[in-house]
Amino acid sequence: MAVPISEGPISEGPISEGPISEGPISEGPISDSPMNDGPDVGAGSPTVTVLTLDVNGRGHRLTLDNRTSLLDALRNHLDLIGSKKGCDHGQCGACTVLLDGRRANACLLFAVAVQDRRITTVEGLADGDTLHPLQQAFLDRDAYQCGYCTPGQLCSAVGMLAEAEAGWPSSVTPADAIRVGGAAGLTVDEVRERMSGNLCRCGAYANIVPAILDAATGRSAANGVDR
Ligand code: FES
Ligand code: FES
Repeated sequence: MAVPISEGPISEGPISEGPISEGPISEGPISDSPMNDGPDVGAGSPTVTVLTLDVNGRGHRLTLDNRTSLLDALRNHLDLIGSKKGCDHGQCGACTVLLDGRRANACLLFAVAVQDRRITTVEGLADGDTLHPLQQAFLDRDAYQCGYCTPGQLCSAVGMLAEAEAGWPSSVTPADAIRVGGAAGLTVDEVRERMSGNLCRCGAYANIVPAILDAATGRSAANGVDR
C-alpha cells in the first residue's frame, strides 16, 4: 500500500541560488526501512511501498522507496545483477528486461509501477542447465567482447523475435509488406533496425546480428546444421 503523497501547497519561496553541492553521490542502496503508514508523514519523509515483484517466475516481497527504478530493485534488492546499468537514461539498452514478454528499459520504470507484470531478466532465459537458443547462438558466434551489453542484447533479441513472429513491422519493413515472414524471414537490415536500441561499445554487432539470425532460423553456427 502506498503512502499518500502530501497534498499541501507547493512552496512559493525563492529558489536557492547557492552553489550545487559537489559532494559525492551516495552509492548505498535506498533504505529498506518499513513503511510508515501513520496518518502524518512528516515533510521530507521518504514514501515507501510494500510490493511484490514477479521476477523469473518467483514472487519477491519488497519494501521500496517509491522512486526506486526496476533496475535498482533488481540489482540492489534482489541481487539479480545480470541487467546492467549503462546510461540510466534509456539510451543504451543494457538494462533491457521483458515485461509480459515485451522488452522494456528497466532504468526508466518505477518498480512500484510493474507490480502486476511478469518480469523476465537474463537470469530467467535458460531452462535449468539448458541455455536459451539465443544464449547458445551468442556463445557459438562469439557475439560479445566485454559482455556488458550482452544481457540487454539477449533480452531485447528475445522480445524482438517475438515481435517479428507476430508480424509487427519495423521502419525498414517494405511499405507493401503485410508481414516480414515471421522471425525466420528477418533480414540483416531488419535485425539491425530492430536491435538499434541496444548499443555495444565494443562493436560486437558483426557477430551479434548473425547470432540472432541463427536463433531465428534454427541454424547452429557451432556445427553448421539446423537445430
Ligand atoms: S541503463 Fe537503461 S537504457 Fe541504458
Ligand atoms: S560486448 Fe562490450 S559493450 Fe557489448
